[in-house]
Amino acid sequence: MIKKCLFPVAGYGTRFLPATKSMPKEMMPVVNKPLVQYGVEEAFDAGMTDMAFVTGRGKYSISDHFDISYELEAEIAGTGKETYLQDIRHLIDNCTFTYTRQKQMRGLGHAILTGETLIGDQPFGVILADDLCINGEGSVLKQMVELYRQFRCTIVAIEEVPMEETHKYGVIAGEEIRDDIFRVDTMVEKPAAGEAPSNLAIIGRYILTPDIFDILRATPAGRSGEVQITDALMSQAQKGCVMAYKFKGRRFDCGSVDGFVQATNYCYENIYKSRK
Ligand code: G1P
Repeated sequence: MIKKCLFPVAGYGTRFLPATKSMPKEMMPVVNKPLVQYGVEEAFDAGMTDMAFVTGRGKYSISDHFDISYELEAEIAGTGKETYLQDIRHLIDNCTFTYTRQKQMRGLGHAILTGETLIGDQPFGVILADDLCINGEGSVLKQMVELYRQFRCTIVAIEEVPMEETHKYGVIAGEEIRDDIFRVDTMVEKPAAGEAPSNLAIIGRYILTPDIFDILRATPAGRSGEVQITDALMSQAQKGCVMAYKFKGRRFDCGSVDGFVQATNYCYENIYKSRK
């Protein structure tokens, strides 16, 4: 039903310098797979096949990754090494990949608006590849697509975080309509300590309805002088059209060194070793 997924991947990844000086942060490997591939696999698991990327300068290796590598594939054809490329080939064979460039870094809201040309007038998923989500049965985005079927409105993924960490996230408050679902009535982007309406933080998974594009066009720069998706979502929330979902699964903040190392250890123990 929802076919398209948007990946804003234009960011600089400054927290991982010097690794990210000439390599996109989304290509950093968690064990043996780049972060962005985990995201694309999650979208594919959710039934999406049109992968749309909002890229920036110096991000060519992402489009190369989602394309055939003739020389390499010819070299390893008929050897046991072919299995290493099985998963990525499956994605390449079953998905389309489109790209547009965000010329200036003006915030996540601006990145999503830049993706309008690839998405058009239909509901779509958004994955921030920095947030790596692992769930054995049904990816987080798949769980959210199921909720979309029920509510037909914007869905954001949320997680409880310690109160002293709310300044890193968009934070919601609303009416609890099931033990894992809230109808959102308030959203604040990165509230200062003591000003958060709850400890329910938005993490990098969204299902957005396409009216978000017109709202974003009219949204002025907010926190940090950037166009914030959270501010645009607040207009939808005022009409009762945003649900927040406490997903099943584990999420790692791979935008931070600590989270990245935790994700690596977890994936090595729970995914890589069991497939060897
Ligand atoms: C963005 C959003 C924020 C959200 C977060 C999830 O922030 O602006 O609302 O909680 O992603 O990862 P960023 O981490 O890009 O600063």
